[in-house]
Amino acid sequence: MSFPLFLAPMAGVTDVIFRQLCKEQGADVLTTEFVSADGILHRNERTREYIEFDPALERPLGVQLFGGEPARLAEAARAVIDWVRPDFIDLNFGCPVNKVVSKNGGSSLLRDCPLLERVALAVVEAGSAAGVPVTAKIRIGWDEKSINAPQVARLLENSGVQRLAVHGRTKAQGYSGEANWDVIAEVAAAVKIPVIGNGDIASAHDVKHRRDTAGVAGVMIGRAAMTAPWIFSQTKAYLATGEMPPAPGLEERWAMILRHCRLAVARRRHGGERAAMSSMRARLMAYTRGMEGGRNLRGQLSHVSSITEMEDIATRHLDEHKIAGEVATLV
Ligand SMILES: Cc1cc2nc3c(=O)[nH]c(=O)nc-3n(C[C@H](O)[C@H](O)[C@H](O)COP(=O)(O)O)c2cc1C
Repeated sequence: MSFPLFLAPMAGVTDVIFRQLCKEQGADVLTTEFVSADGILHRNERTREYIEFDPALERPLGVQLFGGEPARLAEAARAVIDWVRPDFIDLNFGCPVNKVVSKNGGSSLLRDCPLLERVALAVVEAGSAAGVPVTAKIRIGWDEKSINAPQVARLLENSGVQRLAVHGRTKAQGYSGEANWDVIAEVAAAVKIPVIGNGDIASAHDVKHRRDTAGVAGVMIGRAAMTAPWIFSQTKAYLATGEMPPAPGLEERWAMILRHCRLAVARRRHGGERAAMSSMRARLMAYTRGMEGGRNLRGQLSHVSSITEMEDIATRHLDEHKIAGEVATLV
């Protein structure tokens, strides 16, 4: 793991199935989606689903927590450690969503450094007592006028946080504009703990470029993995040999998509196939981005409700486009 590739935590996306699929593709480090400290302390069923993982298939794995009260977060960290024994606890200081920010969680702590420090100290103490390291994920600042990631990074390092992922956007940006890798590089230069760069990585070339220019110890990949989970294996091969392996062909892509669907249906505890497939729809949109005939395809996928329908859609799409694809590669 000389230059580790992290799967970015993504709420509603990086569940146990997707994490395992990305791990198979070569992701080195996994993190659950963010979980509220209150949810943990109330031990609600939903939260349990968020933090469960398969120790044989998913390590190293971190559970990501958010909240705004140091004592509650520390208690939640102790409960998670007792409950599932993750390899690390990750603190979320980046979430821009109003529901989280209004409760002093996520990126809101970037504009209250004393509170951020108290949160980090309390959770690091809880983690140390159990031998579990604490990491953090931040954005570069609240807004363009208050970019403070290097200071926040030093503060977190001094609080005992052992690794830091930096998404190169401000809270105010949401997901618009571009990730600012200059600031990520400043953070990497400002601290001794490993800094993992995150934001807009779309290919193995991007990974190599950031590795060579930003001084980061690894990168974290989010949205690109939703369309192309093989980005991890492709990147590994490219970094090791300098040669880019071809992306999987259409048939292989459909096989991956169908496998994901079947796993999702099999795992669904309540609601059955229809509910599982309806919650897969957004994922299917991401998986088919860039495919030929995408518009028509996405029209069909937007109301898919069974595996049989999925298989029919895949077969039709393959019939229509495989030959064209094969001819194109022969020419
Ligand atoms: C649907 C979605 C859900 C996300 N949920 C989380 C989350 O739970 N915790 C977190 O730290 N970041 C979350 N993020 C942010 C990603 O981890 C990542 O920082 C961001 O997508 C930028 O990386 P990318 O350009 O590689 O996607 C989420 C992003 C998306 C698109």
